[in-house]
Amino acid sequence: MTTSERSSQETSHSKGTQEKIAELHELRAAAKLGGGQKGIETQHSKGKLTARERLDLLLDPGTFNELDMFVTHRTTDFGLGDKKIPGDGVVTGYGQIDGRLVYVFSQDFTVFGGSLSEAHAEKICKVLDLAMKNGAPVIGLNDGGGARIQDGVVSLGAYADIFLRNTLASGVVPQISAIMGPCAGGAVYSPAITDFIFMVEKTSYMFVTGPNVVKSVTHEDVSFEDLGGARVHNTNSGVAHFACPTEPDCIRMLRQLLSYIPSNNLDDPPRVTPTDSPTRSAEELDTIIPDNSSKPYDMKAILHHIVDNGEFFEVQEHFAQNIIIGFARLNGRSVGIVAQQPRVLAGVLDINSSDKAARFVRFCDCFNIPIITFVDVPGFLPGVGQEHSGIIRHGAKLLFAYCEATVPKITVITRKAYGGAYDVMSSKHVRGDINYAWPSAEIAVMGPEGAVNILFKDEIKNAADPEQRRKELTAEYIEKFANPYVAASRGYIDEIIEPSHTRAKLINALEMLKNKRDTNPSKKHGNIPL
Ligand code: HXC
Repeated sequence: MTTSERSSQETSHSKGTQEKIAELHELRAAAKLGGGQKGIETQHSKGKLTARERLDLLLDPGTFNELDMFVTHRTTDFGLGDKKIPGDGVVTGYGQIDGRLVYVFSQDFTVFGGSLSEAHAEKICKVLDLAMKNGAPVIGLNDGGGARIQDGVVSLGAYADIFLRNTLASGVVPQISAIMGPCAGGAVYSPAITDFIFMVEKTSYMFVTGPNVVKSVTHEDVSFEDLGGARVHNTNSGVAHFACPTEPDCIRMLRQLLSYIPSNNLDDPPRVTPTDSPTRSAEELDTIIPDNSSKPYDMKAILHHIVDNGEFFEVQEHFAQNIIIGFARLNGRSVGIVAQQPRVLAGVLDINSSDKAARFVRFCDCFNIPIITFVDVPGFLPGVGQEHSGIIRHGAKLLFAYCEATVPKITVITRKAYGGAYDVMSSKHVRGDINYAWPSAEIAVMGPEGAVNILFKDEIKNAADPEQRRKELTAEYIEKFANPYVAASRGYIDEIIEPSHTRAKLINALEMLKNKRDTNPSKKHGNIPL
């Protein structure tokens, strides 16, 4: 019996208030069972939590306020008329994370496989609308079979209602998606529009068309996991940002992510009371760059020495590892970090690393998070594959993102900053506010070997000992160009600093820039190369 049927029946009995309250409790208890005990057990047997168990872990205890618990679908086709389950497959409402307001929706796979009906979508739209009006993040926990088949085109329209709201909310409130089961077909496009996607290993998957359709169209045999599991989307496609071993791990990380970001585009990120000295020097950094400039080193070790308590919250750890992105704090202030990783492909900029960093820079800029860029880049990756796949278009995204960003931008060139990549990586010319270089920095149009081979081709060819002459000319080039002093003499570098002092320098610069205000020309929106 549905809620409305019960309540119309009960008016004829004119119950007392106590009975009515008791009945409310009964109805709530029934609604909380979702698709029923059997469905809950099936969910657990797959190693998955229920929609409500997930919310219990996500929100501060006792802070969840549920909305629309008694909403049901309105479909009568396919025998659904007498099959209404309160809540209609999604638990929605608001609560707190670390005392801060968040809006949530959590799909309940035990109810029609968490599929999205018109009513289900209306519940999600309601929290999205509230989030926009009240300036708080939206967290969606996705576990459903996509559009409710029995709802037909109405469910497609309902998805579009969500996509539109996701798009309008983008850059206004943070939107975070966790995929904790299936997310298939057009349903993937809601998470895809949001800012960050978490996936749980082995129990979640995302794809536009599933293994059966793939098999019939392309004759490829592929499992759910290999087509769209957490590993694939975190390493190959770059669709997801976090791969978590279990659901509780996923929820813990999601809460941690929120601690770095503000509630909306008009707020500043939360500042924590620092427990690490702002003047702490890191002597290890003075010896971390190898004397041989083509030898790799670990940029993450540098980051750990510099940020508060060595805590770096990495985003997209497994994708395009030649660039590192993530959040950290400097003297309690949240910062977004973009850094080349010389250990992977020598830190070169390629298509995937450009895309990865560009989206991150734009997120930080949307939400008032200062960007610290650590540069060691030999240039853009050469190759037919890269050129034909559009390194020009993708590299332009990162350039565009840095150019348009108006948050405080601080740059540290640790070693190489060659060619166009020098310009791109938060250089002074694209409105870098403070640009530091370590004495090991090499800032030039191209690396010494390449430059000498072009500039002195004939001289080397005609020399009595071409190899000896090449070596001499390379040494001259290094002396003249492969250093930070030419750039510093132009003011492109504000200060050349000892590596060990980097933390204190960054903290001072952040403090100096804390009231920075900069704007772009008024326009509808720019046309970032996509
Ligand atoms: C209605 C659905 C459903 C759906 C699942 N169910 N998906 N009901 N609409 N889309 C129901 C099942 O009938 C079943 O009901 C219950 O949910 C659990 O589903 P199972 O199939 O038993 O579970 P499982 O074996 O775990 O498989 C899960 C699944 C599969 C892989 C998600 O159910 C599936 O392939 N569903 C269809 C997915 C799909 O193609 N969706 C449309 C995508 S297109 P009972 O009563 O038996 O418990 C789309 C367009 C979006 O979403 C538009 C935006 C542009």
